[in-house]
Amino acid sequence: MGKLAITGGTPVRTKRFDPWPVYADGEKSALDDVLTNRNWGGQPFPGKHGDAFAKKFAEFHTAKYAQCVNTGTVAIQAALKAIGIEPGDEVLVPAYTWEGTVGPILLVNAVPVFVDVDPDTYCIDARLIEEAITPKTRAILPVHLGMRFADLDAIMTIAQKRNLKVVEDCAHVHGGMWRGKGAGSVGDLGAFSFQSSKLMTCGEGGAVITNNLEYFERVQSYINTGRASVTDKFKHRMIGFNYRLGEFQAAVLGPQLDRLPKQQQIRQANIEYFEARVRTTRGLGFLKPEPRITRTAPYSYVLKYFTDQAKDIPRAAFVAALQTEGIPCDGLFYEPVYRSSLFPVKASEFPALSWGRPEPLDLRNLYRCPASERAAYQEAVWFPHYLFLGDKKEIDSIVDAIFKTLDNIEELRGLEHPGIRSQGLSRADRES
Ligand SMILES: Cc1ncc(COP(=O)(O)O)c(C=O)c1O
Repeated sequence: MGKLAITGGTPVRTKRFDPWPVYADGEKSALDDVLTNRNWGGQPFPGKHGDAFAKKFAEFHTAKYAQCVNTGTVAIQAALKAIGIEPGDEVLVPAYTWEGTVGPILLVNAVPVFVDVDPDTYCIDARLIEEAITPKTRAILPVHLGMRFADLDAIMTIAQKRNLKVVEDCAHVHGGMWRGKGAGSVGDLGAFSFQSSKLMTCGEGGAVITNNLEYFERVQSYINTGRASVTDKFKHRMIGFNYRLGEFQAAVLGPQLDRLPKQQQIRQANIEYFEARVRTTRGLGFLKPEPRITRTAPYSYVLKYFTDQAKDIPRAAFVAALQTEGIPCDGLFYEPVYRSSLFPVKASEFPALSWGRPEPLDLRNLYRCPASERAAYQEAVWFPHYLFLGDKKEIDSIVDAIFKTLDNIEELRGLEHPGIRSQGLSRADRES
């Protein structure tokens, strides 16, 4: 029996962190209002709660317009339609992200082109973008991943120079700001997810924001079965689908947004405290601080673990040990999409992968992105945002578990444990 919980010792924590998502009377009364007013359908029509929320959400992100949709994946898809992505167009996207960033590109029969991430931010490496551009490239789809922003200054400069559009995947940055501008309002459009793990949630949902009325109208039509938009200034007519967000979900989002600024302050203060406590710890590293992020929005706290500074104990054992100490966290949270088991892409299903090429593009074997692979398979440790919503004692327990694990790391050498085996698998392939 060792000191670590994973080898039979007493765990640092037995009490669970406060659960996510959170709700209060605001959500309850809004839901009751929808129930009793019988307008349950989705925005744009009748959409009292959806309309009110969309206006507030746009304003909070310094954008003129917002449209609610039923998922974050659809938000990206609608944004790609808004900028006129057509079959065969190429869209640059980071390799290290959730598969839901990439699927929408394929769904509009365009071609995703993977770009490696910057090891300092784990977001798309702007220095690698120009070499990935071809005559077919139409757009860049940066993801503000985890707790950092993609370098929007560099991306917007390239986009202007090369006449490309920019859709920001903002699934992780509700309320975040880059140089005083809201996430999603710097590029042509921003796409948000309200899926249940996100910083604000209604179970499933999404939103698209933009400053461009024409894009806004196209998004409205696309997600509302092709109907004319509310203003219809540009008279676009297109095949659309029912991707509307229902009023029950929209109703929950209002109070969730009201709560966000306070939560943001608590998280930020706790993250600063956490970093101050672990700053000089051998075996750990941080993502580079980014002063251009003027309001943080950490979907997860992302730490780096260096196996070679931790007696060559692999990340899987470190993470499983922390979990057993009572700290929710994950190592293989994302992986390079081209290697993911959730990306069994076939050229027969997505014809654009074959167009104009002697052989169809083999997206699973075409790429090697070293920084993405290192983050995914060796280095990154993701702590969910709700761990940082409590008081300092909660943060101390995370730090205690980290120190305890590193101090007793020899106990993990050669250890067999289901938690360690599970950490070796993609999330989609794990048992629970
Ligand atoms: C980075 C990223 N992009 C896109 C999505 C897709 O959002 P949704 O699950 O709401 O479709 C998610 C969320 O799961 C995500 O994390």
